[in-house]
Amino acid sequence: MDRRELIDIALEARKMAYTPYSHHKVGAALLTKGGKVYKGCNIESASYTPSNCAERTAFFKAVSEGERNFEAIAIVGGFEEATTLGLCAPCGVCRQVMMEFCNPKTFEIILCDEHNELHTYKLEELLPLGFGPTNMGL
Ligand code: THU
Repeated sequence: MDRRELIDIALEARKMAYTPYSHHKVGAALLTKGGKVYKGCNIESASYTPSNCAERTAFFKAVSEGERNFEAIAIVGGFEEATTLGLCAPCGVCRQVMMEFCNPKTFEIILCDEHNELHTYKLEELLPLGFGPTNMGL
């Protein structure tokens, strides 16, 4: 799938973000190797800790539907009043979840900057020397 199209789906997903506390809205579009796309948004909680990032929402939706093979994720985010969005890189916890289910050498993280330019990173670039399933004998 075209990377720009995946960013557009992430922008759609962002509209569903539930962010009454931070007002920082994030959307993600997770592409499987089979060509399906799972959308995710961040979902906050009054007690803060149960809040979930957009990326993990997308992963948990996909994994709970039986998906295990992922190709790429597009992520967009910024404050709700922002007129242009800047780069929104995934947090460390989400990088670790990607490490659980993705090959760090091939899985792509696609971001979009304030000039509407796409930036693509391999998971191993964003999580160098990541600890993952192989360390646990899988
Ligand atoms: N957030 C994400 O959804 N993804 C990230 O990778 C970074 C942060 C959310 C969590 C919280 O709802 C808001 O952005 C502010 O941290």
